[in-house]
Amino acid sequence: MRLEKPMLSMKNISKAFNGITVLDSVDFSVKKGEVHALMGGNGAGKSTLMKILTGVYSADQGEIYIDDQLVEIKNTDDARKNYISMIFQEFSLIPTLTVAQNIFLTREDKTSFGLLNDKECVEKTRKLLQELEVDIDPNELVGNLGVGYWQMTEIAKALSQETKILVMDEPTASLTKKETKILFSFINQLKSKGYAIIYISHRMDEILEICDRITILRDGKHVATEDCKQIDLDMVIQYIVGSSMDKAFEWKEREYATDVAPVLEVKNLSIGSKVQDVNFNLYPGEIVGIAGLMGSGRTETVSAIFGTGPKDSGDINVNGQPVTIKTATDAIKAGLALIPEDRRVQGLVLEHSVKDNVILPILSKMQKGLFIDNKKADKVANDFVKKLNIKTDDIYKTTNLLSGGNQQKIVLAKWLANDPSVLMLDEPTIGVDIGAKTEIVDVVRELADSGKAILVISSELPELLALSDRILVMHEGRIIREMQRREIHTEEELQHAIQGF
Ligand SMILES: Nc1ncnc2c1ncn2[C@@H]1O[C@H](COP(=O)(O)OP(=O)(O)OP(=O)(O)O)[C@@H](O)[C@H]1O
Ligand SMILES: [Mg+2]
Repeated sequence: MRLEKPMLSMKNISKAFNGITVLDSVDFSVKKGEVHALMGGNGAGKSTLMKILTGVYSADQGEIYIDDQLVEIKNTDDARKNYISMIFQEFSLIPTLTVAQNIFLTREDKTSFGLLNDKECVEKTRKLLQELEVDIDPNELVGNLGVGYWQMTEIAKALSQETKILVMDEPTASLTKKETKILFSFINQLKSKGYAIIYISHRMDEILEICDRITILRDGKHVATEDCKQIDLDMVIQYIVGSSMDKAFEWKEREYATDVAPVLEVKNLSIGSKVQDVNFNLYPGEIVGIAGLMGSGRTETVSAIFGTGPKDSGDINVNGQPVTIKTATDAIKAGLALIPEDRRVQGLVLEHSVKDNVILPILSKMQKGLFIDNKKADKVANDFVKKLNIKTDDIYKTTNLLSGGNQQKIVLAKWLANDPSVLMLDEPTIGVDIGAKTEIVDVVRELADSGKAILVISSELPELLALSDRILVMHEGRIIREMQRREIHTEEELQHAIQGF
């Protein structure tokens, strides 16, 4: 057999920020026609390594070879000249420009603004989007689109350039199952055309489905590179966290009073055809999961309750009192909190420190006279950093310098600190690593133990089963079943219920 040479080799790459090493002599290589997974915990260095490849950062040490040629990638133009493109974890789109303008913005012709409105750009965009099977008008302003479409636009943008090496940094974080499937068939096409694809994700099932090899980083160091056929989930987890983790998602039957008044009552909630006559109660100390397929009305339900989404009819009582919720501010006043699905685009002031973000919603509780009690605020922030294992040098670090997953954890911390009586979480563990998932499960349980009522939406059934005391199943806008957790014995049972059997 002919020995396959790598198309791309990164050798001995090191990088430090302000004297703190985040990559330590890392070797990484990808072959032609290969999908290579890059995995590791939040803050392990994945995005940084890829930003070095794409010229966003420069390495302190190390070489990059493409087809055996030493190349210098000092900026993003150098990367483009070497046919490298990247779908970034943080969106790089401009909301006030159209989809087509965003896609063609970074080209050499970027100075001739006239060209951006060119019919040709619009046509090229239309073709590209058609290939991706996304139904977006190229002339639509990006700001008017939902977060899933932002992600598809990012993907289209990367693919619109002539590419040999494509880096995807968590491309599916905001995609539905259907969009993910389309993306995967697209990846397979690119693979057969001989692209080298680097795929970053925390979703193990995706990695095992789509990737040929896997490289794992831990604390900035290369831990292992393996053939996906020769590796199983336990091994991957072991490499990522550095120890085995078998109790990841274990359900514990919790005790809470069932003969008390509900904290939250939702009555006859309807939103067009999306949500129809939804009724449920939440009791103090209880964790209720909502299961359902994409589009079953789960996100619409919680956004309507929280006042951030539309609602046609329905009543909401909090602690037995009717409340009128038209905006998020009304909801927060009533004691509700919602950690939304698209928290990557909302929820953080990126220029502010970790501490300032965490204490932002609870400033009034931090006041000592006219001033902020900094000691208390520091303690709250430090406690959350510890509890959620947020990887940051200290609580004064600006949040945009944190890794993607650690930014997500800060949004969680922020809402948890607010101490609401009802906490709603929409896909709480998107983008966080396997270790953090269990930490989040623990924190949510602790909150429920302290008497809060919790509502969790999750597409990850093991997570839903680990957390919930009771599960509501939504299907085509209605609650079709209610199940006590202890009545569900296997994941398949829940899966069947979700599919409407
Ligand atoms: N510009 C920067 N200045 C200072 N520190 C930085 C900067 N960019 C990244 N870091 C730090 O480097 C470390 C690695 O971050 P990186 O974004 O590469 O992690 P990651 O593996 O992509 O994690 P995630 O899964 O959470 O996205 C983190 O501790 C992060 O805070
Ligand atoms: Mg990252």
